[in-house]
Amino acid sequence: MDILKALNRRYSTKVFDSRKQISAEDIEKIESILNLSPSSTNVQPWHFLIAESDYAKEKIAKASKGFFSFNEKKILDSSISIIFCSKIDIDSQYLEHLSENEFNDKRYLNTEAKEKTHKARETFVNFHKNEFNDLSSWVQKQLYLNLGFFLASVAALEIDAVPMEGLDMSVLDKEFNLAEKGFKANVVVSLGYHSNDDYNSNLPKSRLSKNEIIEKL
Ligand SMILES: Cc1cc2nc3c(=O)[nH]c(=O)nc-3n(C[C@H](O)[C@H](O)[C@H](O)COP(=O)(O)O)c2cc1C
Repeated sequence: MDILKALNRRYSTKVFDSRKQISAEDIEKIESILNLSPSSTNVQPWHFLIAESDYAKEKIAKASKGFFSFNEKKILDSSISIIFCSKIDIDSQYLEHLSENEFNDKRYLNTEAKEKTHKARETFVNFHKNEFNDLSSWVQKQLYLNLGFFLASVAALEIDAVPMEGLDMSVLDKEFNLAEKGFKANVVVSLGYHSNDDYNSNLPKSRLSKNEIIEKL
């Protein structure tokens, strides 16, 4: 599909048709998309929990109580819902793991090249840890890049989606023991196909004008 057509067609779905399910073939594609996002130094500081069953979606919906209840039905009526998690720390063991993984994927002609990249990535991470003191925000930037990449990609598959920050992420952290696994929840994306009752499907897009946001140099 033409990329601009896909981006104009996509919108944040407010009401899903719970009878319409994403095919197993498209779920495979969704998993590949999550894994194909770029990230700074290829650090890939993320983890994804995919809920397909009603039971798993109900667990995620526990984060949509009280003030956040406006998002509850989106999760429950979706075909699948995904928790986008970020890594809490980037330690030396993880850096080694990344290096080995790239080596096994044949990214390096020799061990010298592998070592050079490893050192560069380590330096970058240590800058964020010790100089800029912004590791968690840097990691979250990478995760949100994955999110943007993901939303555009599923739009090209003509799958409807809504990203949601309007949830109590601490509930998800507890429900899925994320801290013990070294992760924290940041955003949930529910996916499926919109219902005819979705008021948002017929509304025009609203964006600031290109003139306002783009300055030609
Ligand atoms: C990070 C992020 C968090 C969002 N959280 C919610 C949310 O909790 N609930 C919701 O209905 N929409 C949510 N949205 C949807 C935005 O309101 C929507 O993307 C924006 O209004 C632009 O509209 P469009 O996505 O339909 O083009 C979120 C979007 C993003 C990118």
